[in-house]
Amino acid sequence: MKNILAPSILSADFAKLGEQMKITQDAGATWAHIDVMDGMFVPSLTIGMPVVKSLRKASDLFFDVHLMINEPKRYVEEFCDAGSDMVTFHLEAEEDIDGTIDLIKNKGVQVGITIKPKTDTEAIRPYLDRVDMVLIMTVEPGFGGQSYIDACTEKIVAARKMIDATGRDIRLEVDGGIKLDNVHVVLDAGADTIVAGSAIYGGDIAANTRAFLERL
Ligand code: DX5
Ligand code: ZN
Repeated sequence: MKNILAPSILSADFAKLGEQMKITQDAGATWAHIDVMDGMFVPSLTIGMPVVKSLRKASDLFFDVHLMINEPKRYVEEFCDAGSDMVTFHLEAEEDIDGTIDLIKNKGVQVGITIKPKTDTEAIRPYLDRVDMVLIMTVEPGFGGQSYIDACTEKIVAARKMIDATGRDIRLEVDGGIKLDNVHVVLDAGADTIVAGSAIYGGDIAANTRAFLERL
């Protein structure tokens, strides 16, 4: 499976979202990672469906929407309708995981599941026959610009093994603290989809995007 870079717009200038996403695209990016926070599952608040809908009109990037919200089942259909290409939700945040997966799939949108650093990687196993992506968080979700948690590397390795054992084409994404100088660590561990926020949007966006793409 081809490695993919998913620049996280969390670290972009929110007054220039469309413009700045276009810079990553012109530099070669094909995905945009969109972080949705509810002030409950995580302490911060970010963006909701209306912003995704507006960005959809402004961009043809693949929208990789990362829901950090409680009871995501309440909102997944709206995020699909807003123009998401992939909707990923936290297993810790939802009781009806199968029902949530069904709602996303029924919309014809790809579905991802994700776990926080302290959640046992085994939690993903029951859903591997039905999902398109697994996201292993490599920081505590909630904020951009944190440091990569080294203990997460073995979780990436464990998830890689589980995914390979299924024989299915499931993406393995990592998110949090990924920089140019440690991206090789997560790639070596088996990740194929790399989220980077502050390392892309904090500085020369085009140059950062190109530098990451060269390393994938
Ligand atoms: C954090 C978000 C991340 C964030 C990553 O909860 O899920 O996507 O944007 O930011 P960096 O790459 O700066 O750690
Ligand atoms: Zn994210």
